[in-house]
Amino acid sequence: MLEDIFQSPTSVSLFGVFVALLLLHLLHSSFSSQERREPPGPRPLPVFGNLFQVDLKRPDQSLFNLSKKYGPVFQIYLGLKKVVVLAGYRTVKQALVNQAEEFGNIDISPIIYDFNQGHGIALANGDSWKEMKRFALTTLRDFGMGKKMSEDLIIEECGYLIKEFEQLEGETFDRSQTIDYASSNVVSALTFGKRFDYEDPIFQTMVERNHETLCLIGSASIQLYNLIPWLGPFLKNWRDFMKNMEDMKADIRKLITDLKETLDPEVCRCFIDAFLIRKKHLEDSDIIDSHYHDENLLFSVINFFGAGTETTATTLKWSLLYMAKFPHIQDRVQEELSRVVGSCQIQIDDRKNLPYTNAVIHETQRFANIGPFSVPHATTKDVTLQGYFIKKGTTVLTLLTSVLYDENEWESPHSFNPSHFLDDEGKFIRRDAFMPFSAGRRACLGESHAKMELFLFFASLLQNFHFIPPPGVSEDDLDLKPVLGCTLNPKPQQLCAVLRR
Ligand code: HEM
Repeated sequence: MLEDIFQSPTSVSLFGVFVALLLLHLLHSSFSSQERREPPGPRPLPVFGNLFQVDLKRPDQSLFNLSKKYGPVFQIYLGLKKVVVLAGYRTVKQALVNQAEEFGNIDISPIIYDFNQGHGIALANGDSWKEMKRFALTTLRDFGMGKKMSEDLIIEECGYLIKEFEQLEGETFDRSQTIDYASSNVVSALTFGKRFDYEDPIFQTMVERNHETLCLIGSASIQLYNLIPWLGPFLKNWRDFMKNMEDMKADIRKLITDLKETLDPEVCRCFIDAFLIRKKHLEDSDIIDSHYHDENLLFSVINFFGAGTETTATTLKWSLLYMAKFPHIQDRVQEELSRVVGSCQIQIDDRKNLPYTNAVIHETQRFANIGPFSVPHATTKDVTLQGYFIKKGTTVLTLLTSVLYDENEWESPHSFNPSHFLDDEGKFIRRDAFMPFSAGRRACLGESHAKMELFLFFASLLQNFHFIPPPGVSEDDLDLKPVLGCTLNPKPQQLCAVLRR
């Protein structure tokens, strides 16, 4: 039969076309099956998925270990939910920076939707998020975020914090709450145009409730709720969460109302004023369906308060613990501070002349790794990363632990080593893999502000106090193992702040 075919020229060309089509088809299907190759990962159990392979005390460490087996892009099932995990600086950067649009959504779980119905900045997506983030960035920048005005606010707050420590007269302390109040006050000053007294019961409740709410979001039963939402009303944590939210909204609405009643469009006192002024301008121009509505204001403020309090305060608590644990490092910081600023008020401009102090703060952020997963993201469209196909809407975890402890990036990732941020001459150097604020289009909005706050608080405290373990406790006894709450926190333990002057 083949002979018959090859004897006719028409048949030969038809056969050629057929072979070419077949080859094209084979090539295309092998290419697209490669394109649709899903990331590897451990085999999931029915219903439970890979839950038993994740240590709930340090889930980030478990996932980091799994990445060593399955590679930098792998998938796991948390119950029935598929999650793609990205590990290592190179991969996380590739996704968040090079494919920023595709990996740029936040994963909106049921609890997050209950929380904000899509409003605000930190846990929202789409045009509303884009507009709110742009507005917040420009407003806070105009307001001096990372500049002089923020500096003055922070320096003022340093004074109050130092006074609190002085009152201890070298006695042991666990000043967790005071540090929370100080850090929260800086964000409050930017947002509400005022600071609160540390003894103010309403302020204390707001800070405590914020902490509790963030912890509830991370709790196991809320994760269960996210998988099976109809369970909500039966779960105590869900009911507590919803109550906290209502109380928090009521407190913040009251603060917004006070500002509304005293608003002078010519004098912008804070973020809320700037928002209200913009809203009024739009309404005066008959634009009524803009994103500048009460709910976006309320949740943007809740985001500032939530994101700005816990993160900086936790980092500061770690920094004091590290100083007590590593006295030779504390000595070098204090030697540098005495030599460069003496007893003068520390200013942000001093940072460039304090490379060792600056390196210690950066190393604190790297080593403490307070937000090991960042915030869960979701893909905005079907996407291919390092040859693996990830479907639109898939939850993606950018494992910051694996970036801040990446063995290809850091000389000694598992020890506290300020030299990671110093060159041979002792000058401060930036490191690409320093990513505690994440990267790309969802990167932390408060980064420059937080850096200024950490520097001024840390340097001022070390200028005034020497941090040591309490009597009878050695440096070796101080425990650096973190506890997982809403962030990775130091274990509650006592320290002494001994006045240096
Ligand atoms: C040490 C301090 C801080 C750390 C380590 C930190 C870290 C982060 C991280 C990891 C994210 C998530 C980024 C992502 O989804 O990829 C984030 C987002 C955010 N942070 Fe911070 N943050 C800090 C301080 C602050 C402060 C002081 C503020 C407010 C003034 C703030 C406001 C925000 C907001 C509004 C977002 C959401 C940005 C968006 O979704 O586009 N943060 N931060």
